[in-house]
Amino acid sequence: MSKQSLQHLTIASTIFSSFTENHVAAIAFVNQKGGCSKSTSSTHLCYWLNKAGHKVLLVDADVQKSSSRWLASLETAFPYEVLSAPNELLDQLPKLAEQYDYVIIDGPAGLTEATRAILLRVDLAIVPCQPTGLDLDSAGETIYLIRQAQSVRMGLPKAAMFIARAVKGTKLKDEAVRLLGKSGLPTLKAVVHQSQTIADAFGQGVTVFSSKGRASTAAAREYDKLFREIVEMVS
Ligand SMILES: Nc1ncnc2c1ncn2[C@@H]1O[C@H](COP(=O)(O)OP(=O)(O)OP(=O)(O)O)[C@@H](O)[C@H]1O
Ligand SMILES: [Mg+2]
Repeated sequence: MSKQSLQHLTIASTIFSSFTENHVAAIAFVNQKGGCSKSTSSTHLCYWLNKAGHKVLLVDADVQKSSSRWLASLETAFPYEVLSAPNELLDQLPKLAEQYDYVIIDGPAGLTEATRAILLRVDLAIVPCQPTGLDLDSAGETIYLIRQAQSVRMGLPKAAMFIARAVKGTKLKDEAVRLLGKSGLPTLKAVVHQSQTIADAFGQGVTVFSSKGRASTAAAREYDKLFREIVEMVS
């Protein structure tokens, strides 16, 4: 190999290295489609990991700042950073990761350069997807970006989809499971259903893990199942 191409390879592997080398898991929720539950999932995963005793940081990459405002409103203080510029994400994510067990990134809506930057830095990309034809269709563009990152980073980030906001008892969910199976990404077994207790959580400054009542317990159980699968993927 020529000296020049060796140098090029070294630079590339430095740029595209993930946090795995530092034994930190960086997990991003990405999907260009708005409202598919990226911020809700990110916030709940941070809370869940923190309660499990891990040192976790939320990186809010969405200018709407939903997840960081949500974390700030919770009864316990959780660390977070707001980083929405692509260069900031590329530069800062590895530095921040040195101080935590997990870094959870809440991706922005839309196909942005920030999403590309995130995909160049994370170990695992999770794509929440609502079970409607429109949502399944637009998830394809996010999967395309993931594939591009994987081709540059020799297979990283790992990636999976899950069905979010599914309405219980509808056929759409079964059809979505079938269609997601064709997306080329694995589909996680856990499904998070549409539930009023999840919808209310942001406004009340809580997560379903800290709310009382049967509906919150059911939602917490769904998240628990989902997060176990997610953490398993980076273990
Ligand atoms: N499982 C659920 N059940 C009921 N409501 C939900 C559920 N998940 C999310 N929501 C609600 O749907 C809306 C969109 O969720 P969220 O903000 O998490 O999506 P997002 O993907 O981050 O959106 P954006 O792309 O705009 O940032 C919010 O009002 C949230 O409370
Ligand atoms: Mg959001």
